[in-house]
Amino acid sequence: MDIKIQPIETSKINSVDFSNLAFGHVFTDHMFICSYANGEWKNPEIVPYGPIAFEPSARVFHYGQAVFEGMKAYKDDSDDIFLFRPDESIKRLNKSAERLAMPALPEEFFYEGLKKLLHIDTSWIKKGFGNSLYIRPFMIATEGAIAASPAKEYKFIIICSPAQSYYAGEVRVVIAEKYSRSADGGVGFAKAAGNYAAQFYPTSLAQKEGYQQVIWTDANTHEFLEEAGTMNVFFRIGDTLVTAPVNDRILDGITRKSIIQLAKDSGVTVEVRNITVTEIKEAATKGELKEIFGSGTAAVINPIKGFKHQDFTYELPELENAYATVFKEKLMNIQYNKDTDVHNWRVKV
Ligand code: COI
Repeated sequence: MDIKIQPIETSKINSVDFSNLAFGHVFTDHMFICSYANGEWKNPEIVPYGPIAFEPSARVFHYGQAVFEGMKAYKDDSDDIFLFRPDESIKRLNKSAERLAMPALPEEFFYEGLKKLLHIDTSWIKKGFGNSLYIRPFMIATEGAIAASPAKEYKFIIICSPAQSYYAGEVRVVIAEKYSRSADGGVGFAKAAGNYAAQFYPTSLAQKEGYQQVIWTDANTHEFLEEAGTMNVFFRIGDTLVTAPVNDRILDGITRKSIIQLAKDSGVTVEVRNITVTEIKEAATKGELKEIFGSGTAAVINPIKGFKHQDFTYELPELENAYATVFKEKLMNIQYNKDTDVHNWRVKV
């Protein structure tokens, strides 16, 4: 694929403090961009990261016709660059796009664009456990017309941001009783931009009460535990790891499915099944609830220190060899090329 490259004149890398990065605030020198019009994707380009002009009537601004992905690039001690399960990301991007009536992106635009971008901005990928380059591929409807129907023109763009941890500090959650993240037949499984915007207000209410995130429950009964903030959620009851099955309300998380596999490989019993608020509160009361943690590309695995539901509050115990710690390390060892990768998840670019 012929990608036109317009390099920056002067890199801004020397102005960045890589030891003190807030998630998603600093971007690399370049971005990949291509366009869809007249039924085809074209004009792949790498250009300096910066503002782009769109018609104020572009559908993305009015109807939220936008989907995205989250990935990371890692560098090992030999300066080789790796991605983690990129095939899953392109598949999910196109599944999300289909649900939002957007055109599928050919895989080569995704892979070739991303590979070239990573090599051009390679100095932004820092070595060292915990350092990574967060990759944000996204597709937006750019056609200038406010008819409430799918656009005929789109852009697919990849921007990259050097990253360390996603959550600074401890995370405690409120279990949702009123608001919902998604509903049956909705777009909860897709990485649709609006899924995240709809979380901001209920999350801000939780934050006013001193909690950082919300555990989302099903919209019908608010009894089934589904996701935590922007992450999938796992519960350790006794020594069994339990997580909800993915369905049209829950994101098919790549970190989620990798943790399930790693836990099974380690001989841990994993139950992928519906899990209720009542069950969790009972397990907590009996002292059987040992861990709750969220998983996602940005956060990797984030322990949840406590939760609140109605007037019930609970603090999780401090554990040695917590699953959250053990599986995070196993996963990162694979991602950073420090361990064998029996499932062939790591891809060198
Ligand atoms: C990710 O974990 O990559 C996500 O897409 C969540 C995002 C809100 C940071």
